[in-house]
Amino acid sequence: MRQWSLQGKKSGKSIALVPTMGYFHEGHLSLMRMARAIADSVAVSIFVNPTQFAPNEDLDKYPKDIKRDIGLAASIGIDCIFLPDNDAMYEKGFQTWVQVEELSQGLCGKSRPHHFRGVATVVLKLFNIIMPDIAVFGQKDYQQLKIIERMVKDLNLPVKIVPHPIVREPDGLAMSSRNSYLSPQERKSALCLINSLKIAQKSFNEGIVHPDTIRAKMRHEILANKNAKIDYIFIGDADTLKETDTIGDGTLIALAVWIGTTRLIDNIII
Ligand code: PAF
Repeated sequence: MRQWSLQGKKSGKSIALVPTMGYFHEGHLSLMRMARAIADSVAVSIFVNPTQFAPNEDLDKYPKDIKRDIGLAASIGIDCIFLPDNDAMYEKGFQTWVQVEELSQGLCGKSRPHHFRGVATVVLKLFNIIMPDIAVFGQKDYQQLKIIERMVKDLNLPVKIVPHPIVREPDGLAMSSRNSYLSPQERKSALCLINSLKIAQKSFNEGIVHPDTIRAKMRHEILANKNAKIDYIFIGDADTLKETDTIGDGTLIALAVWIGTTRLIDNIII
């Protein structure tokens, strides 16, 4: 992998990386197209990173179709796919972690306390191995994006982080590999995430600026679905990820909701 990157760099090529866990959907492909448009060479990593999953989570059933992924990446003109195995990424005796402290604590960090330590660590490892000039991250994982941006600043990494807007299904559901877990009934219920965010935006447009009022409206919309359970609804500052007591332009509204046994996330910036 390093040799490929060093060769590209020697010949003056810029390298963009799209880090993924595979099982590509249109969201991943959009990130790849963006990377293709802004760099000379594009590498995509596919690695289902075990250290960002808790023991009770879906690591073992995380969907996989490497052959299909390689075909899709090739159709976009990706130059290189990095497909390491667990032993290559985490050698016996591994014990070094990257912890982006405050930003990792709220939102998804509350119910997934070790998740972002795993994400930051594996992303730094990918940066060190692939040495990209640019890395593209989707805004659906908004907290992840902020954590990676912070890590890049704090550790002086020579990588430009480029965010990509959320890619949605025609009915508004944010694209996610985990959508493949949903039954037809759950797929219908999953629309409560985007619908509650739309209600939040509409309420703000009508002059409501109090987070509790908007949260109550969102909760009502979500819990109208018997199979939905709210993990969190966050309303706050889009940079610090701290809750605020009033909503304004630029406020982040982010949520995680269980639909049956599938945990989905989504967000908007007001
Ligand atoms: O967003 C993801 O798919 C993963 O968290 C990432 C960034 C590839 C790290 O494993």
